[in-house]
Amino acid sequence: MDTNRLSKKIEVILNKQVTKEAEAAQIYLSYGCWADSEGYSGIANYLFRHSQEERNHMMKVMQYIMERGGKVKIEAIKTPPSNPKNLKDCFERTFKHEVDNSTAINGIVNLAHEEKDWATFNFAQWFVKEQIEEEKLVMDLLDKLKIAGGPEATSESLFNLDHQLGKSPNEVPLAREASMENPV
Ligand code: FEO
Repeated sequence: MDTNRLSKKIEVILNKQVTKEAEAAQIYLSYGCWADSEGYSGIANYLFRHSQEERNHMMKVMQYIMERGGKVKIEAIKTPPSNPKNLKDCFERTFKHEVDNSTAINGIVNLAHEEKDWATFNFAQWFVKEQIEEEKLVMDLLDKLKIAGGPEATSESLFNLDHQLGKSPNEVPLAREASMENPV
C-alpha cells in the first residue's frame, strides 16, 4: 500500500527546498568566515548563528517530507559564491539570497494551492512568515551599516557596529522560535 501523501511534484519541490536551505547554510557559513578574516568577529558570529537557522529550516522541510510518507533525497550542494568585496556587498548579497528563497517558498505555496494539497499549503505558511522575518533582519543590517556611515564609515563606527551585531543574536527573536501561533 502506498502511504506517500505527497504528489510527485510536491515531493520534488520540497526536496529542492531541502537543498536550497542547505545551500543557504553554507553561504552564511562562508560569509561568516570571510567576516571573521576581515576582523569583524561580531558579524561573523551573527552569520554563523544564522547559518544554523538555515540548517534548522532544512531539517524542518526534511521532517515534513518524512511525516507525509515521502522520500527525502539529499542532493549535492553548490559551492558558495566568492567572498564579498566589503560589508555592504555582503549584506546586499545576503538580502538577494533571502529574496530568492522567498520566491522558492512562494513556488511551494503556489503548487500546493494548485494541487489543493492543504497540508503542504499550511506547512509552507510557516516559511512565508519566516521569510518576512529573514528579509527584515537583513534590511536591518543594511540600515545599520548606512547609519554607521555607509562607504564613508569610520573604523570606529564599524567597530561599534561589529560589537553591536556580535551581541544582537541574544536580543532579536530567533527565527526557529517562531511558529504560526507565535510568530515572535
Ligand atoms: Fe531559510 Fe534565510 O531562509
